[in-house]
Amino acid sequence: MMEPYRIKVVEPIPITTRSYRERVYGEAWYNQFNLTADDVTIDLLSDSGTGALSAEQQAAGMRGDETYAGARSFFRFRDVVEDLTGYSHIFPVHQGRAAERILFTALLKPGQISLGNTHFDTTRANLELLGCVVRDIPCQEAKNLDSDDPFKGDIDLVALKKALKGPDDVGIVLMTITNNGGGGQPVSMANLKAASKLCRKHGVPFILDAARFAENAWLVTQREEAFRDHTPLEVARLAFGLADGCVASLKKDGIVHMGGMLGVNDPELAKRCELLLMATEGFRTYGGLSGRDLDMIAQGLLEVTDPEYLRARAAATEYLAECARQAGVDSVRPAGIHAVYLNAGRLLPHIPPSRFTGHALASELYLAGGIRCAELGSLYLGEITESGELITPAPFELVRLAIPRRVYTKSHLEYVGETLAEIAKNVEKVPGYRLVEAPAILRPFRARLEQVR
Ligand code: F0G
Repeated sequence: MMEPYRIKVVEPIPITTRSYRERVYGEAWYNQFNLTADDVTIDLLSDSGTGALSAEQQAAGMRGDETYAGARSFFRFRDVVEDLTGYSHIFPVHQGRAAERILFTALLKPGQISLGNTHFDTTRANLELLGCVVRDIPCQEAKNLDSDDPFKGDIDLVALKKALKGPDDVGIVLMTITNNGGGGQPVSMANLKAASKLCRKHGVPFILDAARFAENAWLVTQREEAFRDHTPLEVARLAFGLADGCVASLKKDGIVHMGGMLGVNDPELAKRCELLLMATEGFRTYGGLSGRDLDMIAQGLLEVTDPEYLRARAAATEYLAECARQAGVDSVRPAGIHAVYLNAGRLLPHIPPSRFTGHALASELYLAGGIRCAELGSLYLGEITESGELITPAPFELVRLAIPRRVYTKSHLEYVGETLAEIAKNVEKVPGYRLVEAPAILRPFRARLEQVR
């Protein structure tokens, strides 16, 4: 798992004590989104916009051209994205959700259905804000957290076929690669191909949410027989080629701090998107980004498909999953590549979902080790009353440890493993939580909680 790079610039990380963390976490209403960076030792909240830039990206940033219209940076960005995706119309946007809003507004009518392997939460929100109906149809294998099926990110082709036959008005099929909402699992090329074929047959646009396109491509080369001899770049190109367009947050596999893109082939759709882009993001040659951002993205997109980089990243994630397993904490199997999804429900059977099992483990990781991460359980996905009572729990109580790109070393991951081992030794000491404020919208970001012992 040796990283194919060395460190040239460092940033100190805060080292704090448990008593300090107990105080600040309490003051933050036991919500990790209220913590400040100064209070977090290892930040695994998100792999989005948190990566480290390479020397070449920094140099590219210096070449950034800040011309209002027609900046050279745009053409460098467009050439790289065109070469990667093959789409005829490429628009930069400030981040992934902007691409979602623009594409969905240009493409869909209220009441239409979006089908997907699992929509990411901003994707779902953008669709619902337009009055569309969102339906997740992940493959059956995804239901078993412990099985080692290689492509648990796939869409359920039987359900897709049925839905496309009608009478539903399906406006779009959206495939998220890798499937972030579904345990970070990859999608196979066979599944993409079959879904694409069904969409073409029924005349429904087939769109990729390609935030982690390179990581998906890497896992395809490792797990899908027909692609063993392909490079990740070749697989990525083929995947983009199966779709009619893409939305992508480039804060992940663009390895930049800010950026996104929208690509489509249909010239009429592109015209509508361009209008929305110019009204809300910026002129078509910058779309809400600076020239230096565009240049750093272009360079990041060239670096991200490097097999040695992807091999090391996948190995690091697998290593973290293995550290957790040895500590006695199971995670969704097999390990994906951007994150490890811990099975909090299994570790903390004494905490029922109504006391937010996933949140309890995430909180304990912070209290015990200053490690910040994201709950993916009933606090986020459950049905909850205004007074904070859980009506319908999430299917699983998971905790996502998202790994920023090129940021943490093996010893940081080992520290996470050691912290988990410490928690696992005394699980009965881990308290549950009660909601004291449960906002109806964007709950995880704004919720206030208290401990229940
Ligand atoms: N699609 C997927 C699959 C994502 O994971 C994200 C963001 C987005 C779209 C939205 O992109 O943030 O650039 O607007 N995911 C981050 C995460 C926030 O932590 O998983 P954005």
